[in-house]
Amino acid sequence: MIRFGSLELGSNLFLSPLAGYTNLPFRLVVREIGGVDLCTTDLVNARSLLERNRKALKLIESNEQDRPLAVQLFGAVPEEMRDAALYVESLGVRSVDINMGCPVKKVCRVGGGSAMMTELDRTAALVRGMVEAVKIPVTAKMRLGWDDDNLTAPDLARALEDAGVSAVFIHGRTREQGFSGTVNLAGIRAVVAAVRRIPVIGNGDVTTPEAAALMIRETGCAGVSMGRGAFYDPWIFRRTRHYLATGELLPEPSFAERVKILSRHLDLMIEVFGEQLGCVMFRKVAPWYAKRFGPVAEFNKRVVQMSSRAEFDEILARYRTWRAQFCDDQGELLPRYRPSPMLASFEREADQPPSTVRTAIPVPRGPVEVW
Ligand SMILES: Cc1cc2nc3c(=O)[nH]c(=O)nc-3n(C[C@H](O)[C@H](O)[C@H](O)COP(=O)(O)O)c2cc1C
Repeated sequence: MIRFGSLELGSNLFLSPLAGYTNLPFRLVVREIGGVDLCTTDLVNARSLLERNRKALKLIESNEQDRPLAVQLFGAVPEEMRDAALYVESLGVRSVDINMGCPVKKVCRVGGGSAMMTELDRTAALVRGMVEAVKIPVTAKMRLGWDDDNLTAPDLARALEDAGVSAVFIHGRTREQGFSGTVNLAGIRAVVAAVRRIPVIGNGDVTTPEAAALMIRETGCAGVSMGRGAFYDPWIFRRTRHYLATGELLPEPSFAERVKILSRHLDLMIEVFGEQLGCVMFRKVAPWYAKRFGPVAEFNKRVVQMSSRAEFDEILARYRTWRAQFCDDQGELLPRYRPSPMLASFEREADQPPSTVRTAIPVPRGPVEVW
């Protein structure tokens, strides 16, 4: 059991915010599979929420099954951040997270996003204003610091604890690092050591239950938050929870199970966004699932152009037939076509040649490359 202030949570595993991906359908998918409790929205501009901007409201769309929910806010104006926190609280949101990792110049110039990591006093004052205004927990998500010469996360975490945050999420890389290199477990451990009471949640590159266990063991963090790993594998929370509780590694989901959940995900996308937009958005979702399908060129080529449910069903039917050539009589992928095992960047073992394992997780193209 883990607590964020007054909020008691049933799992110490968390879904990280992934702008453009962690929408209601995806949160419902991971919740239905299980193992996760608190899930977070994409980051939302505090001012846009106050202006009741349609797109911002869509980002926080939720339902009864999507509980407990955290909304991640970004902004640098204390009054706006406070009022946006009050607003989401009034909607029944159970926790509010502050983005301190956003690298976008426009946000950093005015003191928001990752600039917050460099301005301790100002940031602490903004946070205090939010904490004093709402009853729900306020948490913060940050990187280790701006660059290797400015590893401010331990000091910031401590200052934020004093300002009243209930938990800190820490991605074990610097802002300068982008998504390259290795997640720095020692850096996460330094944040754990810097705070007195609040839980620190480790984050970065966790794509397997063993990697989550290793992160907890090596850093002393109270829980683990997963983003891209959940996109490959929405089962990761259930399998990790089981592994942490029992030491037993559940098998990876079968192709049939992956396809079942992929279809469910599409149904939910259509329910929430309508068929036309839901299908267009799904073009960037399906290839993530497909990364664990084995040979997939035929599927990806077509799915990135899909525009209706019927078309998706047809693509899938054709793909099944095409994929059969890579399978044995039981329908299992022949060993040479199976995807290589996943290892976290911080987990590479000396006896495993780099070419046989996948340690780098792709980052979707676009302005979020350096989240
Ligand atoms: C496409 C994408 C979008 C992201 N959007 C956000 C965001 O809205 N807010 C945030 O705090 N972090 C965001 N991140 C960072 C992730 O939450 C997470 O810290 C990072 O991906 C490392 O965790 P992972 O290796 O488990 O994905 C984003 C990352 C990616 C790849």
